[in-house]
Amino acid sequence: MIDLTVNGSAVSLDVGVDTPVLWVLRDHLGLMGTKFGCGAGLCGACTIHLDGVATRSCILPIAAVAGRQLTTIEGLSESADHPLQRAWVEHNVPQCGYCQSGQLMSAAALLSENKQPSETEIDQAMSGNICRCGTYPRIKRAIQQVAV
Ligand code: FES
Repeated sequence: MIDLTVNGSAVSLDVGVDTPVLWVLRDHLGLMGTKFGCGAGLCGACTIHLDGVATRSCILPIAAVAGRQLTTIEGLSESADHPLQRAWVEHNVPQCGYCQSGQLMSAAALLSENKQPSETEIDQAMSGNICRCGTYPRIKRAIQQVAV
């Protein structure tokens, strides 16, 4: 059994030690907000927080997170009211929406360690999150709105 905390709740899992965290979240815990994009750590769709740090869950074996704290998009706020989530709505950020939970998790991790990031710091922090619809300008405006 592997014990960890997911969105503030203790969980015990009987899964193979190499199972990627992404599939544990989706298939074993029913948390479908974290998305599969590339499966190779390249696109950012599967981004979660591991002890508060933005992390790719598709290449993270479950054994590596034993005893640690995971947060998914479902746990980012009580009722989708994190300041970034409100800014995302205000700026109509998503187009197809598929990558946006990963985008939000990366943005939230950035602002939790740097409340007023520069444009360059935003670009650097978000550079690993790919959006095929090209919502990058709206993502940046939403982050900048919360950052001021
Ligand atoms: Fe994990 Fe693309 S699905 S980085």
